[in-house]
Formats: sequence, structure tokens, C-alpha cells
Amino acid sequence: MTGGYAHSLSSALPKSVKIVEVGPRDGLQNEKAVPLEVKVELINQLSKTGLAHIESGAFVLAKKIPQMADSDLVFQHIQRKANVSYSALTPNLKGLEQAIASNVDEVAVFTSASESFCQRNINCSIAESLERFKPVIALANEHSIPVRGYLSCVIDCPYDGATDPEVVANLAKQMLDIGCYEVSLGDTIGTGTPLRVATMLETVLTHCPKQHIAVHFHDTYGQAIANIYQALLMGISTIDSSVAGLGGCPYAKGASGNVATEDVVYLCEGIGVETGVDISMLNKVKNYVLNTIKQENNVSCRTS
Ligand code: HMG
Ligand code: MG
Repeated sequence: MTGGYAHSLSSALPKSVKIVEVGPRDGLQNEKAVPLEVKVELINQLSKTGLAHIESGAFVLAKKIPQMADSDLVFQHIQRKANVSYSALTPNLKGLEQAIASNVDEVAVFTSASESFCQRNINCSIAESLERFKPVIALANEHSIPVRGYLSCVIDCPYDGATDPEVVANLAKQMLDIGCYEVSLGDTIGTGTPLRVATMLETVLTHCPKQHIAVHFHDTYGQAIANIYQALLMGISTIDSSVAGLGGCPYAKGASGNVATEDVVYLCEGIGVETGVDISMLNKVKNYVLNTIKQENNVSCRTS
């Protein structure tokens, strides 16, 4: 029997969460080149843990992100499980056409709440990016492919400084309005702390339904789990994470890995929020990552 305070906290939490595993994309885009067979094995192992969504690649400019250049081969070789959605980033129509040819289950478009990051990451303004997404979403709809949206730098931008929560809220709403089924809010450089995250989410949730909002924390200062707990208390029930904390962003100097999936599962299960993920199997995947990718690259996570 919990006391009044603990009870009021636990009654604010969602009953279950969906975890979006971004390790094979957000994680590996920031590691030195990983062999195709290791990527495929990583995704196959993740598929057996109970994770329902695995972001498995990106159809982006190879010159910019060479780590993702073999995404078509990744999709060709993985053993797909029926209850898992395998997704990829598609910044434009060219990316989407490649994703369709690779038979992806869903795609994601991505922009930023700060202009400088948007320019460096996808070579256009925020407004141009939203225009660019419209035909992407239209073609995806024709193929019955759901489109997720990412909004980066929702707390701070490495170039422009602090981000105004109203800007985040407006852009998240616009992304939902143009047809993204969900917007994942990225603390790209991991500088958020729970009260700033609360302020940002409070503003977003006045414009957007909480069931269409996900959170995506990088763990630069070890704040990701605290921030996720804050988001859970505000009713957010989709969380992005990366097995073994792989990750970072090549266009965000200092950004460290994503929050580790095994830490998110441990937190959620420990506070009575179901994840559907088998933590012992997930820990085996973490060991696989530590023994292959991390050992091979001899770094925890490169910070660019
Ligand atoms: P651009 O140079 O402006 O594109 O790149 P363009 O339309 O001017 O075309 C230039 C050339 O690129 C052409 O080839 C196109 O065909 C080719 P050329 O005629 O010169 O031979 N091209 C492509 N090739 C492959 N795939 C494509 C593609 N599109 C055009 N899709 C573009 C614009 C968006 C493509 C580029 O800037 C890009 O690929 N950026 C991606 C950067 C990226 O992947 N960043 C990391 C992911 S975002 C992230 O990590 C944040 C997140 O985790 C959330 C968070 O943490 O905040 C999601
Ligand atoms: Mg990220």
C-alpha cells in the first residue's frame, strides 16, 4: 500500500509505454562504420526482445552520413518479425522512394526547432523543410506507410542557444497538421533538465494531444532518465531510446548517445509502467553491442 504522495505520482503515470528503439539508426550514425552483418544481427536480436518499433536505417545523403549508406542492404537482409515495425528516416522524396523500394514499414521526416541546426542538418530552412515534407507524406499515404516526425533541438540548439517552447509547440502542431501521426521531441544535445522539460511539454500539450507526442532524450549530462520520468508524469507514453546508449548526432557538437533502452525499461517496469520488453534479452543485446560495435570502435560514443 503506497502513501498519498507516492499514490498521486503513480496515478499520473501511463499504464504502458511504447519504446521506439533508435539504436540501429541514431546510434550507428555516430559510430565508425559498422559492418552490414553486425547491423543485421543487432536488429535481428532487438526484434526478439519485445520491442515493437525498430528504427533500422536512414535514406539520406551518403556524403553526409556514410554510416547509413547501406540501409537498403540492411532492410534486405534483416529477418522481419510480424509484430515489429521497421522504420527509416526519409528527409525528402528521394529518400522515401528508396525506403519504398526497401519495403520499410514506416518512415520519419525530421526538422528542427532551430534554424541553424536545420540548415546544417538538412540544408534548408524550417519552413522549407515543412514544405518538403508535404509531398513525402502524400506519397507515403499512397503506399499506406505511416509517417513519424522528429523535431530536434526542443530545449537548446548548439548554434542558436535556448529554444522557445512556443516555437516547439507551434512546429509540433504543424507537423501533426501536415500528416505526421506522431512528433518525437528531441533534446538533441542532452542539455534538458526536468523543469525545463516540464515547461516545454506543458506548452506543447496545450497545442497537441499527448498521445501524438513522443520524447527523444540524449544523455550528455545524465539527465535523460530524470527527463523521461518527468515526461511520464505528464502522460507521455512513447519514448525513444537506444540499446547500450548508442548514439549522438553528427550535426550537434557534444551530443552524446541516446538514453539507454535497458535503463528506460528498468525505470518503467520499476514504477509499474509496462513496456512489453524482456529486459534480460535486452541486456544480451547490450552485451552484443559492447562486445562488437563499442569494442571495435574503442569509444563509448564519439562526440563530434
Ligand atoms: P541537399 O544536398 O540539399 O540535397 O541534401 P539536394 O536535393 O540539393 O541534392 C544534392 C544531391 O544529393 C543530389 O545528387 C541528390 O540526388 C542527392 P547529385 O545530383 O549531386 O549527384 N540526394 C540524395 N541522395 C541520397 N538520399 C537522399 C538524397 N536527397 C538528395 N535522400 C538532404 C538534403 C536532406 C538529403 C541532406 O542534407 C541529408 O541527407 N541530410 C541528412 C542528415 C542526417 O541524416 N542527419 C542525422 C539524422 S537527424 C538526427 O539525428 C536527429 C534525431 O535523432 C532527433 C534528435 O536527436 O534531435 C532524428
Ligand atoms: Mg537523436
